[in-house]
Amino acid sequence: MRIVLVGPPGAGKGTQAAFLAKNLSIPHISTGDLFRANISQGTPLGQKAQEYMRAGQLVPDEITIGMAKERMQQPDAQSGFLLDGFPRNLVQAEALDGILHETGTKLDAVLDLEVPEDEVVRRIAGRRMCRNDSSHIFHVEYNPPKAEGVCDVCGGELYQREDDKEETVRKRLEVYHTETEPIIDYYKAQELVVTISALGKVPEVTQRAMEALGRAA
Ligand code: AP5
Ligand code: ZN
Repeated sequence: MRIVLVGPPGAGKGTQAAFLAKNLSIPHISTGDLFRANISQGTPLGQKAQEYMRAGQLVPDEITIGMAKERMQQPDAQSGFLLDGFPRNLVQAEALDGILHETGTKLDAVLDLEVPEDEVVRRIAGRRMCRNDSSHIFHVEYNPPKAEGVCDVCGGELYQREDDKEETVRKRLEVYHTETEPIIDYYKAQELVVTISALGKVPEVTQRAMEALGRAA
């Protein structure tokens, strides 16, 4: 399956993507994770991306589209993928259509995670990420690690993302409304959108998502 996951920052895209990708046996492709990996490795791409991410703004399309395309061309993504955080505006959505067209493939569904803004703010404020693996995501209150600051899965160090500061989160939410939300209408016109509530416990949301994708398939 070829799926796009959309939803505001902190909706739980990364959390759900880890389970959905496993259940569906497709790779989880997160442009945010790809940028963070480039930043921690100090690559030129990471250096360019960092200034935009710090400000809560979108990284320029020419950088993002090239990086996403390269990842989608890897062998493990040939029979399907779960895109998380890409596309994020109409230019990227059209570029994705072009990439899919080149390979004679198409999207199966766009899964839209709906969460009220006050919940998103609570989720982001308490988020802790693992330095070893970006799919190990915790929350100080909702999904606390057994030992403070230590990843349950691999023992790695947990940290708070640099762009999770309150003022940057506000900017990211604004960018989501102005730049990203329009892609939902773009995909509605293609009858690809399935919307689910992302409230409730993590496994409940996963089950809701699997059912919705089953209906979309
Ligand atoms: P990116 O990394 O994509 O961030 P985002 O979209 O803002 O989403 P988040 O990672 O903040 O949240 P999430 O929905 O994955 O939530 P999570 O599962 O962690 O992008 C970061 C930046 O990179 C952008 O601002 C931009 O600069 C750049 N970028 C990336 N892609 C780009 C693109 N295509 N174009 C241009 N620039 C791009 O969950 C959040 C918290 O909630 C966690 O603590 C989790 O434990 C908790 N939680 C999850 N589910 C539940 C639940 N059901 N109940 C209670 N708590 C829960
Ligand atoms: Zn870990």
